[in-house]
Amino acid sequence: MTELHAASGSAADAEADAVVIGLLPAADAEPGGNAHPRLAPGAAEVDAAFDGELVALLALAGATGKADEIVKLPTRGVLAAALLVAVGLGKPGQDGSPGADQVRRGAGSAARALAGTGRAVSTLGRIDLAAAAEGALLGAYTFSVYKATAGRAPVGRVDLLSDAEDATDVVRRAAAVATAVRTARDLVNTPPNDLFPESFATRARELAEAAGLEVEVLDDVALAEGGFGGLIGVGGGSSRQPRLVRLHWSGGAAPRAKVALIGKGITFDTGGISIKPAANMDHMTSDMSGAAAVIVATVLAAQLELPVAVTATVPMAENMPSDTAYRPGDVLQMYGGKTVEVLNTDAEGRLVLADAIVRAAEDSPDYLVETSTLTGAQQVALGLRTAGVMGTEEFRDRVAAHGRAVGEDAWAMPLPEHLRADLDSRVADLANVINNRWGGMLAAGIFLREFVPDGLTWAHIDIAGPSFHSGGPYGYTGKGGTGVPVRTLAALLTDIAENG
Ligand code: BES
Ligand code: MN
Ligand code: ZN
Repeated sequence: MTELHAASGSAADAEADAVVIGLLPAADAEPGGNAHPRLAPGAAEVDAAFDGELVALLALAGATGKADEIVKLPTRGVLAAALLVAVGLGKPGQDGSPGADQVRRGAGSAARALAGTGRAVSTLGRIDLAAAAEGALLGAYTFSVYKATAGRAPVGRVDLLSDAEDATDVVRRAAAVATAVRTARDLVNTPPNDLFPESFATRARELAEAAGLEVEVLDDVALAEGGFGGLIGVGGGSSRQPRLVRLHWSGGAAPRAKVALIGKGITFDTGGISIKPAANMDHMTSDMSGAAAVIVATVLAAQLELPVAVTATVPMAENMPSDTAYRPGDVLQMYGGKTVEVLNTDAEGRLVLADAIVRAAEDSPDYLVETSTLTGAQQVALGLRTAGVMGTEEFRDRVAAHGRAVGEDAWAMPLPEHLRADLDSRVADLANVINNRWGGMLAAGIFLREFVPDGLTWAHIDIAGPSFHSGGPYGYTGKGGTGVPVRTLAALLTDIAENG
């Protein structure tokens, strides 16, 4: 794995294979064309080594400073490093300096461009050290477990220049967060023939025990005995039986608050008897992204020793059609006693989540945060990069704001009261789907709300789009699992630890 270090000194004479600098686009106001990009802050000594001609040389090579643009210059002895990598950071915000996610993206693009390189020195750490560190580790991420030839190795080491006194601590924390994201990506990218409820539970246990957490795993027998009708119903169609995993971080001596995290862990979603079309069904290997996120976020809380008690409740099941599968028309009795008429076996996530929410609420948490690849309607409403956040209004807004602040775009969505009646069932307490296509993301949120006790502050983050990336790589995001919303959860837990 790529090593990260905080470093001081000059980028011009650093012993490295490459030096990374940031570029910004020409200011709009400049009249008369011929506008060169501008150097981002932090690269003064590099420019001086080039006798102040660095921007002109980069512009000659085509650099414009737009986001994710990479221009490489051989330095021919001008710098100690043989290669200069200039990365576009895009147009800065109102205050004229690039924002955290611009730095994170730039660091990610640079890290991808540095594949095959031994050691790089980055001046981006002087703009935003934590963002530069996270972006470098995330951009350097590859998943080659299943490849005979892995291609060029990720950059071996990145030294992040910074004059900050606490630089080492900042890099250590950023590396812990980015490592958590990378672990979530690994889990999402592991194919469903190898990651199924039992093996997923084992991996969760290993990660948690290594961090000193308490772990409890309920198998199918315990789930049936315990009355977890959602998990037993959804998971019953697969020979790989369901699990409920619980991980607990105490929050140390004086926890500030108690947080329940819940993540959807469908290790593969065929749709069940209401089977999905074949096209892109492989995407449903990522239907456990919410579970992966809450597992690593809970482990991270322990590693960072955050003074907040965190319990993850993670339902794991494989949604398969078979002679033992649940059917449209079945009525399931969920954990806690409510009954649900199944009208579509492809709306399985909310069923396993209902069990988990009721179980998690038994611990009387101060906050309950649930995240899931819950609806295709999320993608229709908000696109592939913006999560939909629902729940208690103020807390929902707080969660969404954290998402935006860490570069995991998120937007608050309503839970319109009138949708509840659309979930009325002929035979049971409620149905698992509405009978029309309007507001599907919100209807799923309304369904989940039925299982949240009155008065409990909660949020539901639908990550169907942003948890998995099928397009070309950009910034620190490659193809496959993105690790969303690990950084949102890390920021939220940190906020709760500090402010309650
Ligand atoms: N896992 C899917 C949602 C999903 C779709 C995630 C696309 C990521 C990308 C979920 O279990 C599902 O199938 N939802 C149905 C619900 C419907 C039957 C009400 C959907 O969105 O079509
Ligand atoms: Mn489904
Ligand atoms: Zn699903």
